[in-house]
Amino acid sequence: MSNVLSPQETMLQEVLHGMSLKQKSLPSKYFYDQRGSELFDEITKLDEYYPTRTERKILSENLVEMSSYLGDKIQLIEPGSGSSEKTRILLSGLDSICCYIPIDISGDYLNMVAEDLRNEYPTIDIQPLVTDYTRSFRLPEIHSNSRKIVFFPGSTIGNFKRKTVTRFFEVVSEIAGKEGGMLIGVDLKKDVNVLEAAYNDSRGITAEFNKNMLRHLNREIGSDFNPDLFEHHSVWVDDPGQIEMRLIAKEDHKINVAEEIFEISEGEYIHTENSHKYSLEEFEEIVSPWFKVVKVWTDESDYFSVQYLEPR
Ligand code: TRP
Repeated sequence: MSNVLSPQETMLQEVLHGMSLKQKSLPSKYFYDQRGSELFDEITKLDEYYPTRTERKILSENLVEMSSYLGDKIQLIEPGSGSSEKTRILLSGLDSICCYIPIDISGDYLNMVAEDLRNEYPTIDIQPLVTDYTRSFRLPEIHSNSRKIVFFPGSTIGNFKRKTVTRFFEVVSEIAGKEGGMLIGVDLKKDVNVLEAAYNDSRGITAEFNKNMLRHLNREIGSDFNPDLFEHHSVWVDDPGQIEMRLIAKEDHKINVAEEIFEISEGEYIHTENSHKYSLEEFEEIVSPWFKVVKVWTDESDYFSVQYLEPR
């Protein structure tokens, strides 16, 4: 007998668990259905949402210097590559890349993106890998004389729980090996007003994105969350230093999930996402068991950083 749960069964278990906690909570991975991905794409283009354009700018403006750290024959590995949007800056700008391994859990999408990349970059060997990168995994053994560089943009590291951060760096340092390296995007601590504006945009796109998760869950597991009874709000929480995304109930009501009834009172909220921000010192300390920080690039306002790390 198989004890492997289907995606819907897993989702249901996770939602039942999250909703029964004292602080109600839903897993952020369920933001991303088709509509969620489109809304997130819109978020990255908002004036208030500085991370995407700032990281792109840092990458574009420092290619020559980055290249001198990364080496002259590199195998670029990207966990959670999605549309490989930012990677194109490296693929176009660094002729030292011989091979690119995008890794994603969504196989159909990954293979589609890989096909496009093969057309765009005919001289680079594109080798997509379908896997859940938060578990340990193995790379295809290719280009043995090249250096492995793990690319992890978007400050996605800030969305991980502390335990996941630890496991992630363990897996990555194993993948990169003693001779490898890592290029990672890390969002920095800054004025609270700038941070809160980035996650409470004036056009309400982030609010739509947050509430869309409820629609996604309703469709997949037949729950009856009513998005109209919630208000989106993101707040900066000083300790431990993160933006928290919340859905606040506008009135007392009940939510039915697979015949289990959850009560929520006016003003009570469901937590949906963390986006941790680091100082350079804090980040250096976090990675220190596995990596040393060799070089940091930032923008002129010190909003965002791209960091080059080497294994200890
Ligand atoms: N890592 C990015 C960030 O925290 C992307 C992200 C994840 C995000 N979830 C989000 C952005 C929700 C806006 C809203 O900023």
